[in-house]
Amino acid sequence: MNSNQIFFKNSKILSTDKFFRNVLYDKKFGYYTSQMPFGKSGDFITSPKISSIFSEIIAIWILSTWETFGKPKNFNIVELGPGDGSLASVLLKSFKKFPEFDSIKNIFLLEKSPLLRKVQKKKISNKDVKWINNLNWIKKGPVVFFGNEFFDAIPIKQFKKINNIFFEKNYTLDKNKNIKEIFSKASSANVKIIKSYKSLKNLKFIEFPRFGLQELKKINKKISKLGGCILMIDYGYLKPKNQNTLQSVMKHKRNSLLNNLGRADITAHVNFALLREFFWKDGLKVKDIITQKQFLERMGILERAKIISNKMKFREKSDLYLRLMRLLGSNYMGDLFKVIMAYKLNNNNFAGFK
Ligand SMILES: C[S@@+](CC[C@H](N)C(=O)[O-])C[C@H]1O[C@@H](n2cnc3c(N)ncnc32)[C@H](O)[C@@H]1O
Repeated sequence: MNSNQIFFKNSKILSTDKFFRNVLYDKKFGYYTSQMPFGKSGDFITSPKISSIFSEIIAIWILSTWETFGKPKNFNIVELGPGDGSLASVLLKSFKKFPEFDSIKNIFLLEKSPLLRKVQKKKISNKDVKWINNLNWIKKGPVVFFGNEFFDAIPIKQFKKINNIFFEKNYTLDKNKNIKEIFSKASSANVKIIKSYKSLKNLKFIEFPRFGLQELKKINKKISKLGGCILMIDYGYLKPKNQNTLQSVMKHKRNSLLNNLGRADITAHVNFALLREFFWKDGLKVKDIITQKQFLERMGILERAKIISNKMKFREKSDLYLRLMRLLGSNYMGDLFKVIMAYKLNNNNFAGFK
């Protein structure tokens, strides 16, 4: 079988989201199921790998959210797509400093990739942590969901609109088994969903995260039933740019989208205005969407860095400074990454948000 055929399985034509779902998550050949994507020797670096201070800030945010919820005796934390487990392992260490909270919290990790689950289990040998396949495990609330670069790793649909007619982008194989894009008239069900979102109005090129929203739907239901909230951090925008944002990265460099399938990471920028609208539709309240820089600074990242750096040598201090620049700098992740928080609670006093 030609390697291009692998990701089509038995289909002749696949929508963009189904095609890239196979590319990223095929049980045998998928990118996330067949190799370690993260770190220097991998393809990209995420915030928890840039500095553990990032994860400490998330720990403090979760702790303060527990207080906002009135310090309940049962408190569930679900990390969405925990990657190599770096963030969760810092959470565990940080919570140890707060015994009252540490003794009542439950941590769940929701991970799709069996390979990454193994990596996480190796890193986190803690009986308090449970790996789950779905949310049925969570019976009591409240529940706090957290995801860093979770949503951008879930493949999206793409459409273009010509003279008010929607066409969906699909992939197929030509007679030489080369992959090619083809647009075909969008189904009326898809057109109906797109038209129901104000944030997608007047666009000529539309990106729609159908699979991602299916995941969020389950989360929203849980939050509505048990009480709780969700905090998501991702590369994204508030005003759609009317353009294709699918991108492929391999060994820290841009890669052509259809090259190295199964060996390169593929993401799309997240439409935060659409997410907000989705949460609203499900009856959740949403805080003002802010940048990663605003969130981390309001949560005290600079003060924390100052305390840690007091005991550091010059070289370590400059290393920390460079890492903070990456997390906070406008041209790096500081402004490109956004933070959204949706919740169901009468108290709206959440740390980091106004
Ligand atoms: C870009 S990585 C981010 C990893 C980590 N959060 C970090 O910041 O380093 C995306 C993660 O989400 C996981 N993932 C993607 N879709 C998922 C789904 N539907 N359910 C659970 N995990 C998923 C991937 O396997 C991977 O662990």
